[in-house]
Amino acid sequence: MVTLNDVHRFSVEEGIKEDPRDEEKIEEELKKRKENYEEMEGKEKEHYDKDRLENPFDDSKVIYGGDREVKKLVVGIDIETQDLILIDRLNEKGEGIDAAFGHHPEGRALANLHSVMGLQVDTLEQAGIPVSQAEGIVRPRADEVKKGVHASNHPRAPRTAELLDIPFMTLHTVCDNHAYRFMKDHLKKKDPETLGDVVDAILEVPEYEWSLEYDMGPEIFTGSKENRAGKIEVLGFTGGTSLKEDLIDKMVGSGIDTLVVMHAPKKQIEKAKEENINIISAGHMPSDSLGINLLLDKAEEKFNLEIFELSGFKRIER
Ligand SMILES: [Fe+2]
Ligand SMILES: [Fe+2]
Repeated sequence: MVTLNDVHRFSVEEGIKEDPRDEEKIEEELKKRKENYEEMEGKEKEHYDKDRLENPFDDSKVIYGGDREVKKLVVGIDIETQDLILIDRLNEKGEGIDAAFGHHPEGRALANLHSVMGLQVDTLEQAGIPVSQAEGIVRPRADEVKKGVHASNHPRAPRTAELLDIPFMTLHTVCDNHAYRFMKDHLKKKDPETLGDVVDAILEVPEYEWSLEYDMGPEIFTGSKENRAGKIEVLGFTGGTSLKEDLIDKMVGSGIDTLVVMHAPKKQIEKAKEENINIISAGHMPSDSLGINLLLDKAEEKFNLEIFELSGFKRIER
């Protein structure tokens, strides 16, 4: 019997393999958590999420019903209350869905979204930005994200899953790590000359070709098609959420000419325009689908799963 916990555990292991940090660093982090946990007392210890001692991805969690058997798995970019109700409707119609896998975090996984952002120090460093500068923009942003999500209604989706009795997990950075590595390797292999060539290279990946059906494909946000792309870096694909416009300041003079991102905040685009840094947004739904698909290919090889697409997710097998 394959349970949701089995699929989750396997996914976390695969997420570690694809992580931009080396495994030793992750092991160290887990060791530190264990030491902190030992020292905890009272309520803090009692309510501590012990999954954190084994799973370094605080935004990738089983939300409800981990011990239940899974065969038919719904996969969606956002699985929230309304989607869980839809799943329940589908089951009433006889669809036979066993569990739900959402990409964007819900419940405790959303409350701790900020804690995965540290890995962006590593992706920035790999892109050639000095580590002191990377720390300087990632840490304050993570703190801002922590405060930003604090007020959200974290119990809502978990309670819906419980009431409707739908086993539920959200896997975020675990998937995004896959998309990040894939896109980085893909563009390196293609070595595009112009920004237009970068877009063409992205469109060779089937998830992005599919995204054209909804006019949400790759877009040049700053710069033009004929511009030479120069040094291309993939950023903002993994590590929680986007950084702020100060990222652009750090890129000026670091040798990076073109940023390929999943999505970019408005102020970052404005700043990039000012500083003549090219930004290409690959597209959010296709990029998230790509990461999920790469993970699912491995999960389907190991487990007997049937995938049902929902909520912005397009299944493409490789
Ligand atoms: Fe994502
Ligand atoms: Fe996303």
